[in-house]
Amino acid sequence: MNVGIDLIHFATADFYLGLDEFAQQKNQDPNKYLVGIGQEKMSIAPPDEDVVTLAAKACDPLLAACDSSQITAVFFATESGVDQSKSAGAFLHGLLGLPNRCRVVEFKHACYAGAAALQMAVNSVRANANERILVVAADIARYDVDTSGEATQGCGAVAMLVTANPRILAVEPGSGYYTEDVMDFWRPNHRDTALVDGKYSTKVYLNSLKQAWAYFQEATGRGFADIQHFCYHIPFTKMAEKAHKQLVKLSNVEQTDADTLAQTQPSQIYNRVVGNSYSASLFVGFCSMLDHYAQKAHDLSGDRVGLFSYGSGCVAEFFSGVLQTGYEAHLFTKSHLAQIAQRKPLSYDTYLAYYHQPQPTDANITFDTFHTGPYRLAGIQDHKRYYLKTG
Ligand code: HMG
Repeated sequence: MNVGIDLIHFATADFYLGLDEFAQQKNQDPNKYLVGIGQEKMSIAPPDEDVVTLAAKACDPLLAACDSSQITAVFFATESGVDQSKSAGAFLHGLLGLPNRCRVVEFKHACYAGAAALQMAVNSVRANANERILVVAADIARYDVDTSGEATQGCGAVAMLVTANPRILAVEPGSGYYTEDVMDFWRPNHRDTALVDGKYSTKVYLNSLKQAWAYFQEATGRGFADIQHFCYHIPFTKMAEKAHKQLVKLSNVEQTDADTLAQTQPSQIYNRVVGNSYSASLFVGFCSMLDHYAQKAHDLSGDRVGLFSYGSGCVAEFFSGVLQTGYEAHLFTKSHLAQIAQRKPLSYDTYLAYYHQPQPTDANITFDTFHTGPYRLAGIQDHKRYYLKTG
């Protein structure tokens, strides 16, 4: 039985900060960002947007295209969750009006949690074909102002319906994973911004790819030539390019730089203008790749996609899937393009004002309306978060 992604939709915030504007503020050459790390813009969440509202926005069109009363579980992956105890998935479950006969849980391991949730969902469906699992990965990447990480912020959410006989991607059995206890990027409980040893983190990412790729080949018998498209975790697009070049080298493949880029660049288009969305980032890249070819009416049915997830700390996994015949009819390309196009640019000062808005504390707070929907965080009263459906 094939199991995998039946539907997939991604959402991001309504605002962005251009890295040209950012470079000007920081007295840097814009090419450091545009070329050096390969980023143009980063999506910025206003104070009344969090991972729950982003996730709900990602789920809306997907639920409208399926029978949501049949959903048996919600697996919510995030590292910017809103409560130490209650799953962000439970807030989402309420906002979306999902059935009560439903398991809901939050997954965490840095950016790896999205892939972990997807794999757990796939295995649950393999065990019971009646399961229809909503996997959501949502994150808001926040670093301290005036640190090297500041240019690599962003936010986004991806919703995936995981079922038997999926219409988009059959996830193949077997994968290669790798774990090592390292401190390359972390966020202690008392902080709302991440700490990072930036250069070290890029080295650990590449080493994890090397290890996961070796295990993937051993476990599946599949190699580089069996895979047509490569999607990587994308903290910034240059990282994915470096990753793919390393994989080409490790695989002893003779190909031009142009061929190497063609295998992975379509998956970078959205991430280049959205920024890092942590656990969602790999799947934003997957949407980017699918939509890129859909716009060219280039059918990829039967092609194999290699997916590499990396979560600092660190856990990594390389796995693969095969695109199903007729998958293009089930994409949300127009919605993705419209969302990215309708975002409003922020000045650096407005970005800073959003950034410095009081984060949820013990105080009661009502948020001004910064964005119009379809969901927003209205306020916090008696330590409880209140959400509104506005769209
Ligand atoms: P930095 O110090 O700001 O930048 O740090 P830099 O000076 O190293 O420059 C970056 C690149 O731009 C260099 O190229 C420069 O040569 C080039 P490279 O040596 O890397 O090939 N450059 C230029 N190119 C053209 N024209 C110019 C120019 N100037 C410089 N004028 C760093 C960069 C990525 C370290 C920083 O942004 C950072 O700390 N980011 C956050 C950490 C991160 O994203 N790490 C990625 C791996 S870890 C990961 O992916 C997990 C993560 O998503 C979290 C999770 O798992 O939850 C982060």
